[in-house]
Amino acid sequence: MKRLTIAVLLVAVFGFTAWAMDKPMDGTMGKTMTPSMEQPMGNDMGAGMGNEMGKTMDGSMDKVSGMMPGAESMAVWKYITEVSPYRKWGQFPDHMGMQKGKSPHGALHEVYVNKAGLMKGTPKPVGAMVVKDNFNSREKLKFITVMYKVQGYNPSAGDWYWVEYSAEGKVLVEGPGSCAGCHSARAANDYIMVSDH
Ligand code: HEC
Repeated sequence: MKRLTIAVLLVAVFGFTAWAMDKPMDGTMGKTMTPSMEQPMGNDMGAGMGNEMGKTMDGSMDKVSGMMPGAESMAVWKYITEVSPYRKWGQFPDHMGMQKGKSPHGALHEVYVNKAGLMKGTPKPVGAMVVKDNFNSREKLKFITVMYKVQGYNPSAGDWYWVEYSAEGKVLVEGPGSCAGCHSARAANDYIMVSDH
């Protein structure tokens, strides 16, 4: 009888863990980030800037004829899926292929980096983009997290614009949000966790 109870408990705990891993990170951290809280930030601070910068340097660096998007979630999604599909980008030489992930991001991930982001050393130039596919332990794509350096967007934290999408492109978190705070543990490495390139 006792054994049965323990078994039931174990199943419940593992079940919950698996469920929690599948939630967007802000859910697991018990913080709700409503779009209304985050949206104004992206729109007010980023939009024009990114576009202007793109024209001069980043468009040509990525060999893309269009402009770089502003710090705006839908424009960034369109850019990374249609204009310059991110899975065709390169990867950090010290972080290639599928890798084990850490909390809060999920069990497995693969990180793609555009040309500006792959320039050696830190801080990365304006226009740098790092896109991470986040998978659960069964290699199912759950979230896509992006950091994108936009001139003047957030000077106190490396000018990175942060956004998290569902696998289908739904915006879950946008702005510095909770992202910049945690990543600032590596501020000396321009907020990048996985690479020292
Ligand atoms: C509590 C800490 C924490 C928070 C909050 C957090 N991250 Fe991360 N992030 C990490 C760690 C640790 C890694 C490296 C391990 C991994 O990816 O699993 C990482 C890696 C990344 C990477 C790959 C590039 C790099 O920095 O290594 C991106 C992109 C990223 N995070 C985006 C985001 C976005 C977008 C948010 C907010 C929605 C966010 N992160 C919130 C800790 C955090």
